[in-house]
Amino acid sequence: MTVTRSVITGCGAYLPERVLTNEELAGTVDTDDEWIKSRTGICKRHIAAKGEFTSDLALAASRRALAAAGTDPDEVDLIVLATATPDETFPSTATRVQAGLGITRGAAFDVQAVCSGFIFALAVADNFVKAQQSKCALVIGAETFSRILDWEDRNTCVLFGDGAGAVVVKATEGQGTNEDRGILSTHLHSDGRHHDLLYVDGGPSSTQTTGHLRMQGRDVFRHAVTNLSAVVHEALDANGMSADDLDWLVPHQANKRILEGTARKLNLAPEKVIITVDQHANTSAASVPLALAEGVGDGRIKQGDIVLMEAMGGGFTWGACVVRM
Ligand code: UT7
Repeated sequence: MTVTRSVITGCGAYLPERVLTNEELAGTVDTDDEWIKSRTGICKRHIAAKGEFTSDLALAASRRALAAAGTDPDEVDLIVLATATPDETFPSTATRVQAGLGITRGAAFDVQAVCSGFIFALAVADNFVKAQQSKCALVIGAETFSRILDWEDRNTCVLFGDGAGAVVVKATEGQGTNEDRGILSTHLHSDGRHHDLLYVDGGPSSTQTTGHLRMQGRDVFRHAVTNLSAVVHEALDANGMSADDLDWLVPHQANKRILEGTARKLNLAPEKVIITVDQHANTSAASVPLALAEGVGDGRIKQGDIVLMEAMGGGFTWGACVVRM
């Protein structure tokens, strides 16, 4: 029996030029390099330039993903862009990317699941491919969280950065086994009861302002460790796998202690975890595709490898995806 699989054929990343170090931040809020590094693993983050929008970051990452895949933009029939920091309330940032790439066919829309956004977007694209509604999808995670941070709140402003990552996903016939290349399974969860632990205190319908990110970090940390561990096991079980079968864990990059905790719980060697939080900080929906692009780009992640991606974010939302690259 043949089944349609969504194969990741190319990855791309883009980070804004401007780098903001911990030392620089210590000059504007009551913090220091030692606190940030020891509590989060973050050394620096990239910040979008004035006039540089989420769609600009997304477009640059998309061009690189398409080039890596050897895919002409005309082949793309679906763009799913995950962001919590769209250029505008509407139209979707995805349609701006579509126009930037000169594509006039297919569908382009945004998905909003904050830090889990890329996993949600990948699951949406995978389901379109499996339903034969797309043959070639561009899946993007792109954010300019610097625009929604309260730069006077040391609890949050040191934690986030801007960036974008993208993948090209192509419909490919497989045998329906774990040996197939492509997305093997996706697992999505939400629990809206936890709104107040991580949210933005503004919006078009509530305050008519953009608002700022607010987070009860310690509580989010606790939920993240529990939910990520559960969804990772759910994803492994669904594929009849154990952690030993994983070549790579590509986690959401919120806090190095969470990444290390998840790996420890799985008994996974630290060398099998792609870590970018030190260089990028938390880039929300962009963090997983940025980490994936880094692992593929530097040759660590190879074709045929089993990769597990996972993320957790505001809502709460959380999810995982198992892929044979
Ligand atoms: O991407 C979505 C998911 N998000 C996450 O997964 C984030 C999860 N949370 C975390 O990563 C961590 O909880 C934080 C990094 C946000 C905080 O680390 P923590 O070890 O949980 O610290 P804490 O919140 O317990 O705060 C410890 C102390 C507090 O001081 P008091 O109240 O103990 O006197 C804070 O005021 O550290 C203080 N603090 C800071 N000190 C220096 C908070 N932020 C800073 C700072 N510099 N930037």
